[in-house]
Amino acid sequence: MTIVDPTTTTAWATLTGLKTAYTPDLRAAFAGDPERAARFTRTCADLYVDLSKNLVDDHILEALVALADEVGLGDRRDAMLSGERINVTENRSVLHTALRRPAGDSLVVDGTDVMPEVHEVLDKIYAFADKVRDGEWVGVTGKPIETVVNIGIGGSDLGPVMVYEALKPYVHERIQCRFISNIDPTDSGEKLSDLDPETTLFIVASKTFTTLETLTNARMARDWLWRRLIEQGAIEDTEEARKGAVAKHFVAVSTALDKVADFGIDPANAFGFWDWVGGRYSVDSAVGTVVCVAIGKENFADFLGGFHAVDEHFATAPWAQNVPALMGLLNVWYVNFFKAASHAVLPYAQYLHRFAAYLQQLTMESNGKGVRADGEPVTTETGEVFWGEPGTNGQHAFYQLIHQGTQLIPCDFIAMANTAYPTKDGDADVHELLLANFFAQTKALAFGKTADEVRAEGVAEELVSAKVFEGNRPTTSIMAPALTPSVVGQLIALYEHITFTQGVVWGIDSFDQWGVELGKQLAMQIAPAISKDDAALEQQDASTRGLIAYYRSQRS
Ligand code: F6P
Repeated sequence: MTIVDPTTTTAWATLTGLKTAYTPDLRAAFAGDPERAARFTRTCADLYVDLSKNLVDDHILEALVALADEVGLGDRRDAMLSGERINVTENRSVLHTALRRPAGDSLVVDGTDVMPEVHEVLDKIYAFADKVRDGEWVGVTGKPIETVVNIGIGGSDLGPVMVYEALKPYVHERIQCRFISNIDPTDSGEKLSDLDPETTLFIVASKTFTTLETLTNARMARDWLWRRLIEQGAIEDTEEARKGAVAKHFVAVSTALDKVADFGIDPANAFGFWDWVGGRYSVDSAVGTVVCVAIGKENFADFLGGFHAVDEHFATAPWAQNVPALMGLLNVWYVNFFKAASHAVLPYAQYLHRFAAYLQQLTMESNGKGVRADGEPVTTETGEVFWGEPGTNGQHAFYQLIHQGTQLIPCDFIAMANTAYPTKDGDADVHELLLANFFAQTKALAFGKTADEVRAEGVAEELVSAKVFEGNRPTTSIMAPALTPSVVGQLIALYEHITFTQGVVWGIDSFDQWGVELGKQLAMQIAPAISKDDAALEQQDASTRGLIAYYRSQRS
């Protein structure tokens, strides 16, 4: 794969010149161009995306599009969609987009059509979800399942939790889901303490089925299940009875079905996927089984359909209309030309309260890299920090810094036209109050408040500077009719392709994650030193020795 150094392109030189000459003035930009909002607004499936409050003009947008062409974004996109091994450091195809292609499609990779397998697994998940939802799948004592506990971490947790929370109004009335991820024993302790083992089903989700946190939590959950079932007199304390309990209360999701069997889960109760699905791109694979059980197969199919609609848009829309590409290019503009170190994602939709956490893995595990796909160092800044909270909570916490701080923080605002809870407070429609805040914030960020405007309000001169808002703080506004399964799929696919676009410009392999390995290895080396192995303790650096010594002195 030939990597084009973006900083050597003609478009980069053009952008550098444009940035030098550019004095952001969104007030003037809107005043001088009544069509600006319309000209900078795009649609992508059900998403209405207003880019007009970004720090761009037509020339900048043209140069960003030219940059996409010069770095070969189209070829890289097509290579991904057709199953080329663009994840070079792991020598893998990158085919999460295949997971949402309709049945009947064909996608031949290395001589094999992957689509029949994709739909075979999907059908198996749908049949399983039906059984659990219909009460046909029962626990050892014949009771239907009331709680599904997903045990996973990273991509095997963040996507499922986020989507489950986002689609709460679609969840089956008898079934609640919980998620155990952290190896901190308080996580499983809290999540399990009030559950009835007879009505609880565990899904152990791990692509590799080797992840320390997940396997530790899965073993603890299995012990909890046995202990509680025996205590309740639901099963005998025998090997046979324990096996029977696992068969009824544990299923697995993994690419490593041999390891699933080693854990004691019948491979018939396992849902597979493939090494060409990256962990952080896997909520639309079998990793989404917990979601499918919660919302049902029809809704899950709509969810996948939402992804696919955005995939089609990304695959076919010209760059100037292509929303994921444009948003990715705008992020490059801010990171590389304005030195923006972070990007806030602010959903005005409480159900999306885990969206930023989910995006953190998607974006930062993908593009938080200093080495390109060809092993050479990157030539410019990469991988901004993504963060956020739902509005209006964020407004009362960190918006101060976005409005008046010294760093430029581009923000994506997300809102739905309709709420699942239409509610009035007196005459006021409460959803409209939420939207008023959304619109007000993007307006305040773009247009600010001048010193003269502050003075005109009668503010004492010594307080004027503190009350000035510079404005010209860039935002993208994303709206959709409602937070349906399809729209949630669309939002995820949108950010997947934004992330991909940025990675292509920077020459990064956005699908590996070597940066998480060292800490995992060291944790395994350090573990013996913590409790008792003094020889292992001696091998540690002075700071680590001191920390462990403190721990040993304090533990009870
Ligand atoms: O530690 C990083 C990581 O490999 C993620 O990329 C992945 O989503 C997570 O661990 C969990 O991995 P697995 O699904 O194999 O348990």
